[in-house]
Formats: sequence, C-alpha cells, structure tokens
Amino acid sequence: MKGISYSRYGGPEVLAYGDVRDPKVGVDAVLVKVRAAAVNPVDWHAREGHLDRILDPVFPVVPGWDVSGVVVGLGVSVTEFAVGDEVIGYVREDFLSRGTFAEYVAAPVRTLARKPRNLTFEEAAGLPLVGLTAYQVLVKALQVRRGETVLVHAAAGGVGSVAVQLARHLGARVIGTASKGNHDFVRGLGGEPVEYGEGLAERVRGLAPEGVDAAFDTIGGETLAVSANLVAPEGRLVSIADGEVVGYGGRYYWVRPDAEDLRRLSELAEQGVVSVHVSRTFPLEQAAQAQRLSQEGRTRGKIVVTVDWEAEGEGEAQVG
Ligand SMILES: NC(=O)c1ccc[n+]([C@@H]2O[C@H](COP(=O)([O-])OP(=O)(O)OC[C@H]3O[C@@H](n4cnc5c(N)ncnc54)[C@H](OP(=O)(O)O)[C@@H]3O)[C@@H](O)[C@H]2O)c1
Repeated sequence: MKGISYSRYGGPEVLAYGDVRDPKVGVDAVLVKVRAAAVNPVDWHAREGHLDRILDPVFPVVPGWDVSGVVVGLGVSVTEFAVGDEVIGYVREDFLSRGTFAEYVAAPVRTLARKPRNLTFEEAAGLPLVGLTAYQVLVKALQVRRGETVLVHAAAGGVGSVAVQLARHLGARVIGTASKGNHDFVRGLGGEPVEYGEGLAERVRGLAPEGVDAAFDTIGGETLAVSANLVAPEGRLVSIADGEVVGYGGRYYWVRPDAEDLRRLSELAEQGVVSVHVSRTFPLEQAAQAQRLSQEGRTRGKIVVTVDWEAEGEGEAQVG
C-alpha cells in the first residue's frame, strides 16, 4: 500500500510518499481503509525525535495517530465492529511504528468508535486526539462543574476549540486566549476571547476578578506561570504542554486512547455539541506540507490529510 514514512528523525524533508508495509491485523484489531487523517503537533515532535525518551521508534515510521475511515477487515476476536462500519480512532501505541498517514491502518478496537454521522470524514478525522484530550482534561482531570469559570489557552487551536465547546456544554463560563484575528471564531464557539502575551493576567482579571476555577494550559512556560497565578484558591490547573505544572501544584496530562470516551465524543458531535473546524486539507502525498503548516503553530481548528480513493478507482483492498 501507499503511505508516508520516515526512516530517520528530522525536518519535514524526511517524510517520503511511497510503498509502505501492509499492516498486520491483530486479534483484537480491525483493518481501516483510511479516508482522512488529522495532523497534530505531536506528529512533528515525534518526527524530530522529541519523543525519543518515551517512545521507541521502529523505522520506517508511518506518522499520524488520528483517523477516520471504513472497516474493511476484522481481527478474529472482534465483535464490536463489522465490515463497512465508518469509524474514527486515536490509534496511538506505546512506540512509533504504524501510523494513520497511509491507505490502511490496523487499529485495535480500544482506539476506535463509530464516526459521527453528521461529520464529513475530514471533520471526523480531526476529532479523536484533540477531542479526547479536551474531554479527559475537562471531565476527568479538572472536573469542571456548572457555573465555574474556566481559562482555556490556544482556544482557536485543535484542542482549545473543542475544549471551549465542551466546557460550555458542562455549564462553565469560558475565557479563551487567542490572537485578535481568531476572536470572532472563539466567540462563535461560546468563549470569551482575550489576547495572549503581555498584559494577559490583567485582561483575564478584568473578566474574572476573583480568578478562575480551572485553567487548561496548552502552551507551557510563561503562559503556565501566569495561569497558575490566575487560578483562585481551591482552583485546579492542568497542563498538556509543560511538566513544570507539577511545581505549581497542578497536574500534567497525556491523552489516552479510550473507546468509551471516544464513543461519548462521537455522540456529542452528533448532538451538535462539538463541531470540528477544518481549516485546510492536503492530499496524503503532501503530508510534509501539512506538517510544516502545523508546525507554524497558528492552526485554526484542524489540518487534515485525505486519501483520494476515487483517483485510484476505489483501489480494491490490496491488503488484509
Ligand atoms: N499532553 C497531551 O496529551 C496533548 C494532547 C494534544 C496536544 N498537546 C499539545 O498541546 C499543544 C496544543 O495542541 P493543539 O493541537 O491545540 O495545537 P494547534 O492546533 O497547533 O494550536 C494552534 C493554536 O495555538 C494558538 N497559539 C499559538 N501560540 C499561542 C499562545 N502563546 N497563547 C495562546 N494561543 C496560542 C494559535 O492561535 P492564534 O493563531 O490565534 O495565535 C492557534 O490557533 C501542542 O503543544 C500539543 O503538542 C498535548
């Protein structure tokens, strides 16, 4: 099958489009014919070797952890899905090897849920990683409750844009940081936008003089330090970007594949509670450009790569 792979750590230039190994479908996995795969900052961090301390690479690595597609094969013990089901997945394993930037991916059922029917494959591919992150942080780590005020950083980004919508659904008031050009977008999600950078603390205090009940840091460094100061006594602080959060009495969180959480997110998408904004799509062959753009750190919503099956005459399953 065709896919994107890299055989050493490096910049976007190490990404090559071509033949990659066909996936082996595990006993509790399904074979997914990939329709779309979302780009996440973790993809370029992994490609550059920033995760080498925690994830063993098995080169050549196929990048990508987010997927939407159609089930075309079943592991022998799988009863949860049938051939033809449309699914989404956060297909992360504990090493870097067989990702979603390919025509097919073998996905363990613990990483999958049914695709929300009202979302396109492109939108649906953008939901799993950022949606699970937002859901797990807000519901499990921060335990956001009705009537609380939540500070969400990078509110226009992948994680932030879903976090604003979910926190509103939980009954919270949301203050979201974004550059001026994204303020209407953040308002449209239900958040109260504030500009980040110099003077951030004063701007947030202007909206929440007593401080915020919960802060969701997606940036780290100075943003984390300012956030720690903005959290009211008894408030909670979680970072997904900076382990130093522990020094401020907060918690570091790494998103986990969880089929039940993903099923819930899929439902919330179908109910119209959570939408996914796709700002840009690229054909799979141009994954390097897609990662380059993501690396600029200014994505509104999600960047997605797509597999064009029509161009390949629906390319009848060549694997599985
Ligand atoms: N630990 C985990 O489990 C986990 C999970 C997911 C993501 N992450 C990490 O969390 C971070 C965010 O992920 P993401 O997918 O949401 O990234 P993303 O979609 O690439 O975020 C882009 C957004 O960041 C905003 N931004 C840039 N600098 C900012 C600043 N100083 N303050 C506030 N907003 C700023 C930009 O808004 P403007 O264009 O308006 O500037 C843009 O909308 C990344 O570092 C990612 O690796 C960690």
